[in-house]
Amino acid sequence: MTRMHVAGSIHADVTSAAPQWLVKPSDANALTDGLWSGSAARVGEGELELGGMSVGDIVAETGTPAYIIDEVDFRARALTWREAFAGWKVYYAGKSFLCGAVARWIDEEGLNLDVCSLGELTVALRAGFDPQRIGLHGNNKSDDLLRVALARGVGRIIVDSSDEIARLERITEELGVRAQVLIRVTTGVEAHTHEYIATAHEDQKFGFSIAGGQALVAMVRCHGSARIDLMGIHSHIGSQIFDTNGFEVAARRTLKLMSQFKEATGVALPELDLGGGFGIAYTMDDSPATAYDLARGLDEIIEHECRGFGLERPTLSIEPGRAISGPPGTALYTVGTTKIVELGGGQTRRYVSVDGGMSDNIRPALYAAEYSAVLANRVSDAPVALSRVVGLHCEGGDILVRDVFLPADVAVGDIIAVPASGAYSRSMASNYNHTPRPPVLSVRDGRLTPMIRRETLDDLLALDAGLDR
Ligand SMILES: Cc1ncc(COP(=O)(O)O)c(C=O)c1O
Repeated sequence: MTRMHVAGSIHADVTSAAPQWLVKPSDANALTDGLWSGSAARVGEGELELGGMSVGDIVAETGTPAYIIDEVDFRARALTWREAFAGWKVYYAGKSFLCGAVARWIDEEGLNLDVCSLGELTVALRAGFDPQRIGLHGNNKSDDLLRVALARGVGRIIVDSSDEIARLERITEELGVRAQVLIRVTTGVEAHTHEYIATAHEDQKFGFSIAGGQALVAMVRCHGSARIDLMGIHSHIGSQIFDTNGFEVAARRTLKLMSQFKEATGVALPELDLGGGFGIAYTMDDSPATAYDLARGLDEIIEHECRGFGLERPTLSIEPGRAISGPPGTALYTVGTTKIVELGGGQTRRYVSVDGGMSDNIRPALYAAEYSAVLANRVSDAPVALSRVVGLHCEGGDILVRDVFLPADVAVGDIIAVPASGAYSRSMASNYNHTPRPPVLSVRDGRLTPMIRRETLDDLLALDAGLDR
């Protein structure tokens, strides 16, 4: 995800300021395989179509910026993960993108749902999601959040700290209920894309350390609690993971912990959750494993490790987020200005400024996430130009797509489409520069349905106590 950007040599041609992974396309209009939702296609004169609707018609109906979710593709991905991991519990990670419609789709496709705040839990409950099939995360859950979760019968609470155990004991007592919990452990594995680091050192805010012994202590404490049912443990090792290497070490360390717990208490815990983080393709450089390949790999790892520790195979869970919500989403923007910047040595970069930016997708600014983009409202046979798609905000780092080859005639009024935008973009959106957040609409069979409406200036100003109404 985070890459070094290699500058070209002074006398190279104009494309050499591109990073090494970015291949100059023979046709800049082509939709790179693996990046787009299942229904994305160039139709007619070459306009991009999503869910049977041309971007021209989409933009005429909803304006830009806008996030468009291909409903059929979203549901198909949810189902694929459920079917590939048959026999596992699959929790969709709502943090990647959640609203009422998504909660209903996830329910209808038979998945469980992870939430990690009172807001996300409220969306799930108001959408009618069965609380028993909800998992609650969070490193600092408030009394209010725990009270709602416990009163409504949330199926599993993933406990993150000793303070939380004490809070749970108090609130379960108050409400006269029991809590079903998993203990979140840190395995010392950190995975990003195809790299992972496995150490004994854990310097992060989540969970109880296995290496430091706190995880076993927390497990024994929950096991001994009159109000808590300890069901198992939970580990999440990172994001944009493309293979099973990191999971192998995490599974070994978590299963070893479960066998130590069994030795200490005589109890074999029934559940192990390996978290989420399964990667998707944002650019032509990304090649994630399929859900089926991951399932096969993880099954083998678990079988092998359970045999090694003499444990029965526990009930296993995973928590995919972006792998379900990312690829079905496309961000649409209108070009407002373009600019050619001299880089020296005869090289140039075209800055294409659009009507969104870091307020609707913070990922490039936050952790140098890469995306790609195409000219969506038409095709062009102009030569390609190394381009940077930037937003309208007052920050130099307000970049949406750092490096992409776009036709050199991209102009004011054109529509730019950014694929794989369904996860952690609108869900992390802010109102920076008092910018209203864009809407999210689903598209299916040539029709748009609002999922989250466009925020208005009135919505924003309604919060400002210093303005007249
Ligand atoms: C505990 C947990 N589960 C699942 C996820 C989902 O990750 P992804 O969307 O990369 O699958 C996250 C993401 O941060 C997480 O923290």
